[in-house]
Amino acid sequence: MAINERFEELVRKTDINSPAPENEPARQAWFLARARLLTQRRMEEAGRPLTFRVETFGCQMNARDSEKIVGILESAGFTEAPSEDTDFLVYNTCTVRDNADQRVFGRLGRASHLKKKNPGMKIVVCGCMVQEKSNVEKIRRSYRFVDLVFGTHNLYRFAEYLCTCLESDGMVVEIWDRADRIVEALPVARKYPFKSGTNITFGCNNFCSYCIVPYVRGRERSRTPLEILRECERLVSDGVVEIMLLGQNVNSYGKDLDTPCTFAELLTEVCKIEGLKRIRFMTPHPKDLSDDVIRVVRDNEKIARHIHLPLQSGSDRILKRMNRHYTKEQYIALAQKIRGQIPDVAITTDIIVGFPGEQDCDIDDTIDVIRRVGFDNAFTFIYSKRAGTPAAKMPDQVPDEDKNRMFDRVLAAVQETAHGRAEKLTGRTMEALAEEVNVKDSSYITARLSNNMLVHVPGDPSMIGKMLQVRLDECRGFYFFGSVV
Ligand code: SAH
Ligand code: SF4
Ligand code: F3S
Repeated sequence: MAINERFEELVRKTDINSPAPENEPARQAWFLARARLLTQRRMEEAGRPLTFRVETFGCQMNARDSEKIVGILESAGFTEAPSEDTDFLVYNTCTVRDNADQRVFGRLGRASHLKKKNPGMKIVVCGCMVQEKSNVEKIRRSYRFVDLVFGTHNLYRFAEYLCTCLESDGMVVEIWDRADRIVEALPVARKYPFKSGTNITFGCNNFCSYCIVPYVRGRERSRTPLEILRECERLVSDGVVEIMLLGQNVNSYGKDLDTPCTFAELLTEVCKIEGLKRIRFMTPHPKDLSDDVIRVVRDNEKIARHIHLPLQSGSDRILKRMNRHYTKEQYIALAQKIRGQIPDVAITTDIIVGFPGEQDCDIDDTIDVIRRVGFDNAFTFIYSKRAGTPAAKMPDQVPDEDKNRMFDRVLAAVQETAHGRAEKLTGRTMEALAEEVNVKDSSYITARLSNNMLVHVPGDPSMIGKMLQVRLDECRGFYFFGSVV
C-alpha cells in the first residue's frame, strides 16, 4: 500500500483556503486534501468508518488504473470493504466484448438494491465502457441512481470528481474524447505488495478491424524512460520483486517521444535495477517484435521466459481483414525464431473465432498454427461485434452456431498442445514466485513460474512474495503440484 511520497508532500503543502491550482498534479493534491476533510466530516456524522470497493473488469491496464483509484480512495480516508455492500462502489469497466458490457449492467442492477438500504452510498462507473456514448446514454436513462461517470482519459482527475461527488446529489458525468497529458506522481495502492504493473504506453494506433480499444483508449502515448525507471526503482525499494511493463503494443514504445527510445533499450535499462528479480511485459504485436527485443530477453535472466504473442487467426485471408499486418507463415517463423533463441520460453496467444467471413477452412489454418507453434496456453474468444469498428460493418457476420463449433475445435487443439508442453516440464526444478494462499486448500501456496504457469506447493503465508526453488512433481494440464526444494 505505497502512497506516493512526492504527492503526499504536495497534499501537506497545499492550502485549501485558497482556490484550487490550475497546474497538475498540484490541483489533484488540493482536491485530495479537500476530500480528506469531506470524508472526515461524513465519518463523524455516520459515527463509523467509510468503506469503498473497486470492481475491475478487463485487462492489466484496467487493473493498474484501479490501483490508482484505490490509491486516491485510501488516501482520502476510506477503508476497503470485503463486498459491494459499501459506501463508495466503483465499477472500472471493459468493453472489448459485448459480454463485458452486459456483466456490468447486471451488477449495476444489483447495486441499486444495496443503495436502497444505504441511501448515502455512491456508485461510480468508469473505464472503457463509458467512452462509448451509447453506454453513457443508457446509464443516464435507465441507471439514474449512478452518482459519477468518468472515462479513461481523465482518470487523473479522480480526486476532483470524488470531491464533487461527495458534495452533490445529482449524477456527475465527465468523459473526454482524448487525453490531454500524462500526469505522473499520483498515489497508487498496489494489490500485491511484491509485484506490480507499470504503464509504459497508453492507447493504441493499430486499429485491428475488430477492436474497440483504440477508440476508448485513444492514440499511443509513451511515458519517458526516466519516469518509468524512477517508478520501477521506487517500487523495488518498496518491496516489489516482479514488474510487468504494460502497453497495448509494447514494441512501439518510445517512437512518439522527443528523444526516441526503443522497447529493447528500455528493457535493458529496467534489467539493471538492482533488487528487481523478474520482469514481464504485455503485449508485443507479432508485426513488429524486433530481433533486439528477442536478444535482450535471451541475454537477461531477469526477464520472464514467457512471450504472449497474440495470433488472432491463422488464416491469411482473415488476418488481412483483421488488419494485423502479418501472414500465417510470418507468424510461425517469428515463433520459431523465439523458440530457437530463448530455450524454455513459453509462447501463449489470443485467438478470435467467428470473425466476419470466417469459415471452417480458416479454422483449419488456425489449428495448423496452434500445432506447429505448440502454444503453452491460449485464450480463445468468440468474435464480438463492436459498434464503430470496421468489422462490425462487414456483411458476412458468422451465425452463433458456427461460431460455437469453431470455438470448440480451436479449444480442443489448444488443450492438446498446451498439455503436451506442460507435461514435458514434469520433474524439473524451477524458480517460482509465491503469490497467494491456494484458494481451495489453505495448506498450499500458489506460485508462478517464469513461464507464467502456476504451481501449488505445500506451505504457509510467510512464503508469499518470495522466490522459491520448486520441483514440478505432477502436471495437471495447465498447472502443477510441486514441492519446495
Ligand atoms: N493489445 C493487445 C490486447 C487487446 S484486447 C493485443 O493486441 O493483443 C485482448 C484480446 O481481446 C485481443 O488479443 C483479442 O484476442 C480479443 N478481442 C479484441 N476485440 C475483440 C472482439 N471484438 N471480439 C472478440 N475478442 C476480441
Ligand atoms: Fe486492439 Fe489491435 Fe490495438 Fe491490440 S493492437 S489493442 S487488438 S487494436
Ligand atoms: Fe477492456 Fe479497456 Fe482493457 S476495453 S481489454 S479494459 S483497454
